[in-house]
Amino acid sequence: MGGNSAVRAVLPDGRLIRDCSVTIRVRDVQGSHSAQLWIKSVYPDYVDDLAPGVFPELEEIGHRAADQCAHWFGDSSAHPLIILQEATPVGFAMVAKDRPSLWLPRVDYRMEDFFIVRACRRLGIGESAVQLILSRFAGRWEITQYLRNTAAVSFWRRVVARYTGGNYQERIVNDEVRQVFDSALKVR
Ligand SMILES: CC(C)(COP(=O)(O)OP(=O)(O)OC[C@H]1O[C@@H](n2cnc3c(N)ncnc32)[C@H](O)[C@@H]1OP(=O)(O)O)[C@@H](O)C(=O)NCCC(=O)NCCS
Repeated sequence: MGGNSAVRAVLPDGRLIRDCSVTIRVRDVQGSHSAQLWIKSVYPDYVDDLAPGVFPELEEIGHRAADQCAHWFGDSSAHPLIILQEATPVGFAMVAKDRPSLWLPRVDYRMEDFFIVRACRRLGIGESAVQLILSRFAGRWEITQYLRNTAAVSFWRRVVARYTGGNYQERIVNDEVRQVFDSALKVR
């Protein structure tokens, strides 16, 4: 899945170009060993951004990265996705097909992980990638963020509101923010 997106770009001298057209692509990488290695290499940054200071030992973060990657790449109902700007990996996402649960609402997909590398943030890449993912996996979604991860909460509120034209439900339960919506009802 992919397409030209208007994002911002930072020139080597630090100047910012607005509405620069670049190709953002999202590739399903289930079964790709090199993609798994790349995700594993950036996973410690992801874990650290989600909950700064909660996993202080680098060794512990390393184990968690290896465990999580092995879990996703061993689950045939999961979609590990790499986000590419032109041909360069700049992030990853993990989309899980929902399994019935007693305490969670019935949905089709959950966004289990979503990450853009630190050097490429606030350029619009995350939002462009989300648009591609929600269109590809059309159905009922639930997206969850820790309330204390204020960047993620702002990001998801903004992209979900824009994608759905405000047609989504949000609840805050146990210090987590949850948005539920139907991506098949995209506003054009
Ligand atoms: C959250 C994250 C995915 C955002 O990716 P990104 O590519 O930087 O996001 P975009 O540039 O597409 O941002 C789109 C909009 O989201 C909001 N947003 C993004 N990052 C934000 C931040 N740090 N603080 C406040 N708002 C933010 C803004 O409204 C932004 O638009 P603007 O730049 O015109 O103001 C990225 O910061 C990240 O990977 N964080 C660490 C991992 C994480 O928390 N993942 C989410 C788990 S639920």
